Amino acid sequence: MDKKKILILPGDGIGPEAIDEVKKIIDFLNKKKTINIEIEEELVGGACIDKFKVPVKDETIKKAKKKDAILLGAVGGPKWDNLPFDERPEQGLLRLRSDLKLFANLRPAISFDSLIHASSLKSEIIKGLDILIVRELTGGVYFGEPRGIEDLGNGKRRGLNTQVYSTDEIIRVAKVAFELAKKRKKILTSVEKSNVMESGKLWREEVKKLGKSEYSDIDLNHMYADNCAMQLIRDPKQFDIILTDNLFGDILSDAAAMLTGSLGMLPSASLSGVKNGSYLSGLYEPVHGSAPDIAGKNIANPIATILSFSMMLFYSFDNHKLSQIIDNSVKTVLNKGFRTEDIMDKKSQKVGTKQMGDLIIEEITKNI
Ligand code: IPM
Ligand code: MG
Repeated sequence: MDKKKILILPGDGIGPEAIDEVKKIIDFLNKKKTINIEIEEELVGGACIDKFKVPVKDETIKKAKKKDAILLGAVGGPKWDNLPFDERPEQGLLRLRSDLKLFANLRPAISFDSLIHASSLKSEIIKGLDILIVRELTGGVYFGEPRGIEDLGNGKRRGLNTQVYSTDEIIRVAKVAFELAKKRKKILTSVEKSNVMESGKLWREEVKKLGKSEYSDIDLNHMYADNCAMQLIRDPKQFDIILTDNLFGDILSDAAAMLTGSLGMLPSASLSGVKNGSYLSGLYEPVHGSAPDIAGKNIANPIATILSFSMMLFYSFDNHKLSQIIDNSVKTVLNKGFRTEDIMDKKSQKVGTKQMGDLIIEEITKNI
């Protein structure tokens, strides 16, 4: 069997304990010879700052570039909140995204039937929800220059960021979204603010042009970001794939995630493109953050991290079968009524992080 080498970056807060459950699964599947994955581990975020005074080491970036895929837990926490901007834990993540050119961020928002009541929306609005946000991840206002805080003298200052997109940046991420649309419902909604922003106007024009020339079989729609936020809450099932820029994608993906009832359930993939239908190198991470308030208590939900590993199997290793087995195992455990605290309801049985991992492995065992 093809050996795959992955880099694991547990990070901060609940990251390490959620990652532990994935390591358990990898260990188990390696022993069963279902996969052949070699793991290496490095620090990132606050944990890396504490030990090496930087949010990610240059060697780690180098190492990451040589791996078949990367799995990340979470970064950040109040302990590092007062550090200067470019020394914060988040910079470790942003540098990985940027240096590895992971420009296409896939964030599925799927509602699990058994958790439908955990959503703050009415069940009929979210039952069966399965949307995918494709967020541009290495451009826009997150990285645009000039940026900074200027001193204006007289005790006043000026904060500046730049929203900027070029044709190439728009087209490469749009292609990923169009390719994904081919394999789904063939509907794509491109989201920007072309009514007020030039970068949004260019975004719309380039996506439209690409759709017309290469993807005429895809039903392409355009929507302003504010309207999209509203439509996501009003009638989320009208969407299949939403393609959007870095900042709007950050915001809309949190809204979409919450539709499903728990942020603790949602995985993500950050990819550096698609070539002949295959996806190029990827970093996989849960959408939720480091949740420092519940870290180290064995109560965190490891499912988003486990599903991120499942996305890795799907997109980076083309192992659709095993990815499906893991997804189904998660569903079965939920259907049986086991819940971590964040998705707990009165009828269910509460389990800790480790037990959730064990239960999922038990289901995987039955199906491999
Ligand atoms: C996300 C996070 C990050 C972002 C932070 C941690 C830098 O919110 O992945 O959505 O803003 O992109
Ligand atoms: Mg975010």
